[in-house]
Amino acid sequence: MKVFLAFAAIIAIGIASLYSLSFMKPDPVLEAQVRGQIIYDKSCAACHGINLEGQENWRIQNADGTMPAPPHSVEGHTWHHDDGMLINYTKVGGQQAMADLGITDFKSGMPAFGEVLTDDQISDVWAYIKSTWTDRERAAQAERTAAQALADG
Ligand code: HEC
Repeated sequence: MKVFLAFAAIIAIGIASLYSLSFMKPDPVLEAQVRGQIIYDKSCAACHGINLEGQENWRIQNADGTMPAPPHSVEGHTWHHDDGMLINYTKVGGQQAMADLGITDFKSGMPAFGEVLTDDQISDVWAYIKSTWTDRERAAQAERTAAQALADG
């Protein structure tokens, strides 16, 4: 009888915990970050580094006139750019993104991902990259995005 009660109690706890799990709300922000990390590791890490550290001597031009891939961590300057720029750079690639800004004497090594990744996937990648910044960079970057949105009307 004792054994049976103990067994019944374990089953009851098991059912109760399953029941409460089914009521746990998914966290959409966290989910986007998790999806984004998988995409980042596959599509961006080869150049920007598995820890977002960028390539070595990323400030020094390569022999072929391109620049090495910069870090996307807080060590880099990625967080100084507004969302529009970051997303466009990812979608159309460096050559076209710079041309869009009126800069044509620039040789980019950054490929375009607009044909490879959906808008949602690109958005997830940025959710992941931003999750590696501290509140300070996140706030500064959000402010820049808001200011640019105002300027763009
Ligand atoms: C083949 C290498 C390569 C891959 C893969 C790559 N990049 Fe880049 N990326 C570069 C290089 C090189 C630069 C430096 C600027 C340039 O050449 O246009 C750069 C620059 C950037 C910039 C602008 C600079 C900055 O940090 O503000 C962004 C944004 C960016 N990459 C995002 C991404 C994202 C997101 C991915 C993955 C979806 C990715 N890159 C994958 C090579 C790469």
